[in-house]
Amino acid sequence: MTEVLKQHLIDPEICIRCNTCEDTCPVDAITHDSRNYVVDADICNHCMACISPCPTGSIDNWRTVLRVAAYPTADQLTWDELPKEVPLADLPADAVAALDGDITDELQTNAADASLGSVVAPASASVPTVNLHGIRNVITATVSGNFRVTQLGTESDTHHIVLDFGSANFPVLEGQSLGIIPPGVDAQGRAHHARQYSIANPRDGERPGYNNVSLTVKRVTTDYDGKPVRGVASNYVCDLKKGDVVQVIGPFGATFLMPNHAPSNLLMICTGTGSAPMRAMTERRRRLRLAGNDNGGKLMLFFGARSQQELPYFGPLMNLPKDFIDINFAFSRTPNQPKRYVQDLMRERAADIATLLKDANSYFYVCGLKGMEAGVLDVLRDTAISHGMDWQTLHAELKRDGRLHLETY
Ligand code: A2P
Repeated sequence: MTEVLKQHLIDPEICIRCNTCEDTCPVDAITHDSRNYVVDADICNHCMACISPCPTGSIDNWRTVLRVAAYPTADQLTWDELPKEVPLADLPADAVAALDGDITDELQTNAADASLGSVVAPASASVPTVNLHGIRNVITATVSGNFRVTQLGTESDTHHIVLDFGSANFPVLEGQSLGIIPPGVDAQGRAHHARQYSIANPRDGERPGYNNVSLTVKRVTTDYDGKPVRGVASNYVCDLKKGDVVQVIGPFGATFLMPNHAPSNLLMICTGTGSAPMRAMTERRRRLRLAGNDNGGKLMLFFGARSQQELPYFGPLMNLPKDFIDINFAFSRTPNQPKRYVQDLMRERAADIATLLKDANSYFYVCGLKGMEAGVLDVLRDTAISHGMDWQTLHAELKRDGRLHLETY
């Protein structure tokens, strides 16, 4: 039989190179170079695990091809746009029949199983607007603020950037992200692709009632191996001045969202700039409380940084009332102090975390360094088991009900 394939491809025009798909793929079919993310047709088993975590939808592209003529990854790496669908004329009927029902409910279930976190939003979350602006209809925003939120003189140069959309429509929810396109071109003379940043403010604006958003951006000065590099986008963003105009796409993200119902507990675990969505959710709850609409649920935060001086928003966090949020800081490089990671602190607070794990109104959010993810999940598992819960069942329920959200990089 002539084998026909629904080939899985990534749209290079829309992809924001966030690495989520490569991280998610359980069979390592997705790879990338400095330019594109690509799918190896010989490895991809259509499990669909990568589809819903992708913030832009660029992952959800398919071309019907003869298997022998599937696009090789070497070709995909050179693409600036997806090839047009080529009609397959005169295909044998058996080949076409084999395509029907290609992507079934069973595969969708596999996707949920393959992922460690939820691929759905909390049931009571608001409906997000996604992909309103893509690279073909970029929106511009004006910088209305740029403040350093880590202490001067420390290595971590992290900035709080405020972008104003004027009268343009750019609705966001806590936990969503946007893309910024740095000006200029790369070494190959091609326009830079967009970089993704989590939104750090609640839905009613960085300043309530204003049409603005905020971002938490760390200046990248070294690569993953510690070699000096100058991150194109992060340096551009951290150097922005009030009044500068930036090219924005988005908003993105339909799962890492907060529940609206009362009471609902939020357990937030983050490192560094992973604090952006936690700031957004905390501020949402704080404003509701100020307006007399206290949710009644608990807020608990575990926040890791090298030192107090390098922890973004340390001052404002310290000002939050103790009866509003339970904050736990883990510092790893405080002189003469033992190295502490968020998961170490979580183990110390196991009894309180167990109470949250037992409550079906608890929602868990993890954002920041990739390395933290496994450690945090281990603590949740150990805590559940040591407090008499069946982790396998609980983990499956948390994922199914949109109650365990992982966003690490
Ligand atoms: P470390 O001092 O070992 O780098 P960064 O400043 O690079 O964004 O990191 C934020 C915090 O996350 C730092 O305290 C860093 O510690 C810590 N960290 C690094 N790796 C892990 C990990 N695997 N799990 C939890 N925290 C981590």
